[in-house]
Amino acid sequence: MDTIKIFIASFAALALGIGLPVSILSMVGDSASEEPVAAHAPSHNEHAAGENYLKAALESTVRARGLAMAHLQEQLDHGKALYQNCFVCHGAQGEGNLVLKSPALAAQESWYILSQLQKYKNGVRGKHPEDLEGMMMAPLVALLPQTSDMEAVSTYLSSLPFQKIPAQLSGADMDAGKALYVACAACHSATGLGNPDLKSPAIAGQADWYVVSQLKKFKGGIRGYHADDVEGKQMVPMMALLPDEQAMVNVATYIHSLR
Ligand code: HEC
Ligand code: HEC
Repeated sequence: MDTIKIFIASFAALALGIGLPVSILSMVGDSASEEPVAAHAPSHNEHAAGENYLKAALESTVRARGLAMAHLQEQLDHGKALYQNCFVCHGAQGEGNLVLKSPALAAQESWYILSQLQKYKNGVRGKHPEDLEGMMMAPLVALLPQTSDMEAVSTYLSSLPFQKIPAQLSGADMDAGKALYVACAACHSATGLGNPDLKSPAIAGQADWYVVSQLKKFKGGIRGYHADDVEGKQMVPMMALLPDEQAMVNVATYIHSLR
């Protein structure tokens, strides 16, 4: 009975994401095998079958979890090594760099980072002759030859803690920015942390100057113009809400303040 309780508690711990030390597992195994057979009531067979089933299930869960953890650690190590090619511009902590016009990438959603790397690779982003910053970025994806390389660096970047960058822009009307953001929240969420179902990235806390530069690119047909840029195209009609640079500064300052 106690063994069953330990199994159930262990399952609950796993479900809650609390790792189960291997020592407890072997302890459970030992106590199960040490139990004297005679101590069991007539329901012993049923009981033992239940325990064996739970134990097998628990062990395979732990094994699968172990493999998943090992794979994740491998990806993180590989991603960190690859990021040595990137930090000159994007910062040692993924905090970005104003002078090099490079956005913050730390804590960004990995699916979004991967999607942008693929866009640069496929010429869907960073190829327009007026996209100077994009053209700086695009050749660097050559350093990520395999999809697994792009995945690894994306996983690594999304694992980095968010970096709060100081505001650069001044003269924003925060109330106007907040009011404008209501329309953006439909896709980027009220918190600005994005929405994977709508392929909308996290923008909360992103550098205000970078947000303005991207809004200008969407409005000017420099980003989101390519026939294959399905997601980028969704941003273009939104630019009707931002008639001038002041409106962009307002909303970018509000977005920066969100995290
Ligand atoms: C020479 C400087 C430089 C280096 C090195 C560099 N980048 Fe960039 N990266 C940029 C710039 C500039 C942009 C912004 C482009 C724009 O304004 O449209 C950018 C944009 C990006 C974006 C899009 C971010 C977003 O929010 O949409 C990703 C992802 C990215 N870089 C990843 C990487 C990775 C991974 C590496 C290393 C393999 C790397 N970059 C190396 C300059 C660089
Ligand atoms: C209909 C959904 C939708 C709405 C509404 C929307 N966005 Fe977006 N936004 C997207 C998607 C999708 C992308 C990703 C584009 C890509 O994959 O290249 C994006 C990208 C962006 C980016 C680029 C982020 C980066 O890291 O490069 C910024 C900045 C942005 N949106 C700001 C806004 C603002 C400001 C508003 C409101 C005025 C807004 N968005 C409204 C869907 C939306």
